[in-house]
Amino acid sequence: MKALEIRSVTKNYDSITALEGIDLDIEKGTIEGLLGPNGSGKSTLMKSIIGLVKPDAGDIRVFGKSVLEHPVETKKLIGYVPEDPRLYEFLTAVEYLDFIADAYAIDVDTKEKRINEFLDAFGLKGRTNELISGYSGGMKQKLAIISSLLHKPRILIFDEALTGLDPISARIVKDLLHKLAKAGVTILFSTHVLAIAEVMCDQITLMHSGQIIARGQLDELQEQAKLSESNLEDIFLKLTGTDNLKAIVDALR
Ligand SMILES: Nc1ncnc2c1ncn2[C@@H]1O[C@H](COP(=O)(O)OP(=O)(O)OP(=O)(O)O)[C@@H](O)[C@H]1O
Ligand SMILES: [Mg+2]
Repeated sequence: MKALEIRSVTKNYDSITALEGIDLDIEKGTIEGLLGPNGSGKSTLMKSIIGLVKPDAGDIRVFGKSVLEHPVETKKLIGYVPEDPRLYEFLTAVEYLDFIADAYAIDVDTKEKRINEFLDAFGLKGRTNELISGYSGGMKQKLAIISSLLHKPRILIFDEALTGLDPISARIVKDLLHKLAKAGVTILFSTHVLAIAEVMCDQITLMHSGQIIARGQLDELQEQAKLSESNLEDIFLKLTGTDNLKAIVDALR
């Protein structure tokens, strides 16, 4: 059974088509990178998968279960980090994670153990009793990542979740994602850092104007872009038609 099945998903906001007939299947245990220019529909697609956005048409299934028909069951299977995580900043890190763990009905012993392990692994151990409002941007980001992992989700949806992390923390998260994928967790993450996508992803989906314009492993994308031996940045610019910016860049040099 596929971890994710997305069929003909369309979403409009007034005159803006955010998603236009998206079809995407993701196998269990895959790390899938979602790439595309600003406004291409990445976040809207991710929000549709976790049920925060209701598509106008189409169907999304998580391990065979429709997100619309089984909203609670499917949410339990997913861990999500939004692109602009909103935390309850008047709580301490421990209070916040405790609250999230309770929302997922994790038992007390497991909850305490996991919260401690994660805070330790992410280097937040010494700051756990301070209010989140006093945390740095990266520290808040780490907290959002931890809160997405507490209930041991089978699918992880990370919208730009590595942005703002220092190299050590980004490395910890990357290693963790690889380990989780090996253990069968399916990961869909968006990033604008193409170097991260290059090293992290088993497969890359490239979006543009609400559509999927290319999908495959790096060598397959090179073939589609007819750019042999090129890196992901060149492929991205060619396939999204943004290589006309090159003239501007050249002029500014
Ligand atoms: N709540 C909303 N109301 C109106 N328009 C929206 C809303 N959410 C998204 N859109 C529009 O849908 C399109 C896709 O937006 P989306 O946030 O999915 O893009 P994205 O690929 O995540 O971009 P970015 O790389 O900047 O995060 C954009 O044109 C955006 O303006
Ligand atoms: Mg986005």
